[in-house]
Amino acid sequence: MTDAGELRGKSVALIGAGNMGLALLEGWAAQDLLGAASIVEPQPSPRLQELCAAKGYALNGAAAPCDAVVLAVKPQAFDAGAAAASPFVARGAIVVSILAGKRIADLAARLPTQAVVRAMPNTPAAIGRGVTGAYASATTSAAQRALADALLSAVGGVEWVDDEALIDVVTAVSGSGPAYVFYFAECLAAAGAEAGLPAALAARLARATVEGAGELMRRQPETGPDELRRRVTSPGGTTAAALEVLEAPEDGLAALMRRAVAAAKRRAGELSG
Ligand SMILES: NC(=O)c1ccc[n+]([C@@H]2O[C@H](COP(=O)([O-])OP(=O)(O)OC[C@H]3O[C@@H](n4cnc5c(N)ncnc54)[C@H](OP(=O)(O)O)[C@@H]3O)[C@@H](O)[C@H]2O)c1
Repeated sequence: MTDAGELRGKSVALIGAGNMGLALLEGWAAQDLLGAASIVEPQPSPRLQELCAAKGYALNGAAAPCDAVVLAVKPQAFDAGAAAASPFVARGAIVVSILAGKRIADLAARLPTQAVVRAMPNTPAAIGRGVTGAYASATTSAAQRALADALLSAVGGVEWVDDEALIDVVTAVSGSGPAYVFYFAECLAAAGAEAGLPAALAARLARATVEGAGELMRRQPETGPDELRRRVTSPGGTTAAALEVLEAPEDGLAALMRRAVAAAKRRAGELSG
């Protein structure tokens, strides 16, 4: 269960404060629960410097043992990132990695702990509306996992999987998912322009439709998207005519999504080596 109180008084080190690392830090700072934070970032952005100054977080200071260490460098910088992280790992600390493709075995081999969580966030984390899929190594205790959950929850929902291989599927669904939704908006706009609307108007309509439909879904968590869809589909109406095309078994949206997710899952597996 998520409990922001897990963060109270805890010391956290963040290694790499680029897009995703900074989004996490913003979430922790907003909750104001951390006992102390140490950030390692070779090229601190003005926003990072401002946040560290405002909250008293140590930026590129000396390493001190922390309760949790979050690794948020690019996968290509894994070796240097793990070396930078290691001196911050206190006895009993949890390490949370958000590096795409780096397996628990890779992480545990480079870090002075076996208590490691592999997490896959997505970009709406930057506005506190992300969703993260996470997997904990077998040696991670319940308390360590709760701390990891609280850290990741600062930027959105957290879903735990009990098989590391499923992280590739999480990557294919929610990690890459925002791009699918953006592409859907592009395609809807292009189809509207082709059907006669001025391109800019079609783009505004498509964008507002995706935003509004997403918000409607968010506000009705108990209602499945299938039910929301049925409610706006009158028999024999215009929506039904379009859905007949989208639901075609061979080349409809379901078949396309199946192929798209399978391709992303395959690629995630290749990148994990
Ligand atoms: N963005 C996403 O949608 C997303 C989603 C899920 C997972 N992820 C994962 O999140 C990780 C970070 O992605 P990002 O988009 O936030 O990348 P990013 O913006 O490039 O951030 C990485 C940061 O780490 C810094 N860094 C590099 N080497 C370092 C070292 N040795 N010690 C400390 N900091 C170091 C980089 O500094 P320099 O610029 O100087 O190299 C950069 O500021 C990636 O592993 C990615 O797989 C990202």
